[in-house]
Amino acid sequence: MHSLDAFAQEKLDALDGRHLRRSLTETLREDGIWVARDGRRLLSFSCNDYLNLTQHPAVKAAAAEALAKYGAGSGASRLVTGNHPLYAALEDRLARIKHAEAAVVFGSGYLANAGIIPVLIGTDGLIVIDELAHACLYAGAQLSRGKVLTFRHNDVAHARELLETYRGAHDRALIVTDGVFSMDGDLAPLDELLALGEAHDAWLMSDDAHGLGVVGGGRGSSFSGNTHVPVPLQMGTLSKAIGAYGGYLCASAPVIELMRNRARTLVYSTGLPPAIVAGAIAALDVIEREPDYAALPVKKAKAFTHVVGLPEAESPIVPILIGTEADALAASEMLAKEGFLAAAIRPPTVPAGTARLRLTFTAQHPDDEIARLAGLVRERILS
Ligand SMILES: Cc1ncc(COP(=O)(O)O)c(C=O)c1O
Repeated sequence: MHSLDAFAQEKLDALDGRHLRRSLTETLREDGIWVARDGRRLLSFSCNDYLNLTQHPAVKAAAAEALAKYGAGSGASRLVTGNHPLYAALEDRLARIKHAEAAVVFGSGYLANAGIIPVLIGTDGLIVIDELAHACLYAGAQLSRGKVLTFRHNDVAHARELLETYRGAHDRALIVTDGVFSMDGDLAPLDELLALGEAHDAWLMSDDAHGLGVVGGGRGSSFSGNTHVPVPLQMGTLSKAIGAYGGYLCASAPVIELMRNRARTLVYSTGLPPAIVAGAIAALDVIEREPDYAALPVKKAKAFTHVVGLPEAESPIVPILIGTEADALAASEMLAKEGFLAAAIRPPTVPAGTARLRLTFTAQHPDDEIARLAGLVRERILS
């Protein structure tokens, strides 16, 4: 066997042996909640389409209209000829929603994080990052080539300790966290992290991929407390509750202008297709127009946690911690036999020993099905 193929096969065999091999399963999403998979029709609790806006008639119509008018792709990087007129409209909307001076849209959330962090932090810089922050925040941190230190999850005292010890030796510093943690569903203490950052001249960056549209009245996690927390770097994605695709940063005008000049994943990557941008704008319209609808996913997640006896949900994401990879896969399969799609999440997406089912609640999940799922989780998984 060629050494390249032998290398690949050996890696795959090792993953198999540890129940960590993943596969792409063809999934047909029929509407916002039902999917067809492996010949079965399943009610999905594993999509991030929290408001089911991927299927909203107004969102689809806006995308179709832009497709007809501007074509299928943008044709170039935004800095060359890919900056079609819909971008400015979307960026104005995002800045307004987030109470920021300006916004810039990237090709995806992953690209945003991989681009933003290296613009702000170089080899002499310091990044203090929550241990459970999303993989693409770590990717951005590593690309910066600065010193990366991890603090225990949501442990502000630990982050303070790190800054007290290391901040002095670095020219610039960044505190990095998810706003809503993607695999745990809890919220970051943004107010405390902001105060910590101000005390140590460390800029706070939050990734609100799972907050926009569904927490804080639809504005995201920095709006979820009694007072708005003015996080200076609010990153997020348009691929979850917004039901489209793309990433963004909301910040001050000079920071956004710097990103447009220096973020390599923006400068050297093709702009989003016009239809996607138009769909995102229409989705934001729905969220602003219908706050009661936007509140439904968290309301349903809270109801589920009450019935099952888990800590009250803070977001639409509810983890069911299981432990081993094999047990998490078995629980997922049990639920599939009962008509539910609840994907098993395994390391390295989550820490070793914490394989889980990650349930996501959406506005249109029927309450009787949520009650049936709660019964199964309580009696057949947690008992
Ligand atoms: C917290 C977080 N940040 C960033 C991303 C990446 O966003 P995107 O899917 O738009 O690349 C995700 C989603 O996968 C996420 O959960």
